[in-house]
Amino acid sequence: MKIISNPFELKEYLHANKSIGFQENQSIGFVPTMGALHEGHISLIKKAKEQNELVVVSIFLNPTQFLKGEDLDKYPKKEVADTKLCQLSGVDVLFFPNVNDIYTQDEVSVLAPKVRGFVLEGESRPGHFNGVLTVVMKLLNIVNPTRAYFGKKDAQQLNLISLMVKQFFMSVEIVAVDTVREKDGLALSSRNAFLTKEEREEALKIATSLRNATAMVMRGVLDSKEITSNMREILAPLHIFYVEILNRNFNQLSHVEIGNTIILVEVRVGTTRLLDNIWL
Ligand code: PAF
Repeated sequence: MKIISNPFELKEYLHANKSIGFQENQSIGFVPTMGALHEGHISLIKKAKEQNELVVVSIFLNPTQFLKGEDLDKYPKKEVADTKLCQLSGVDVLFFPNVNDIYTQDEVSVLAPKVRGFVLEGESRPGHFNGVLTVVMKLLNIVNPTRAYFGKKDAQQLNLISLMVKQFFMSVEIVAVDTVREKDGLALSSRNAFLTKEEREEALKIATSLRNATAMVMRGVLDSKEITSNMREILAPLHIFYVEILNRNFNQLSHVEIGNTIILVEVRVGTTRLLDNIWL
């Protein structure tokens, strides 16, 4: 596995790889991450390996997607373990830039759409998605992949990145990958590391609420209000940022449409924000 931190070196390396020995049209699968890798990231890497000849993973804790007062410094950092995991997962190139490799002063940036970027997580974290879209634009331009892989757990992020790629006429294919869960249903997230034992128990309410919502739909209950109020009862007394039933384009649905619905939850457990969703 080749480890590169300089964006220009990476561009050159990938270009050279395309022209030396490999076919000119060799496909590149790209998995952008902020590190603290877990099975969820590994499943993105596996998918990328299945579908591409070369796999690039980036590890970059992007400061611009953290708002003032959010604890960027506390975000788990596991450089050695992450590098080992990438190696064991068969990653070809690990892109590990420093902040100064990615950002300078007085930067051009991408703005999230005024509505879809400022609802749900964007409402309580205004500007968060500007940072996400800006760094993803930079990373996609550096790697120039055939396909890029994102988890369905961050459904709003996935939706906004797909919109950006479409609206900026970019040629990368965005691949959505299913959420990986612990045996008891908790969705894997780097933030789970912040939970105490008791908080982890509390966090299980998220998966329970989503399981219950699915069971209601299976019984023929399609009314969004009825489903979300049942979910709120299960989630109480956790602090709820939102419980929403949306279609795949992120528009509100009064009734579940099977095959076109995402039920999304974000709560705070202790001091940790956790989000999850189910695609029906
Ligand atoms: O989902 C993440 O880990 C990050 O938001 C991403 C897409 C790597 C951008 O920093």
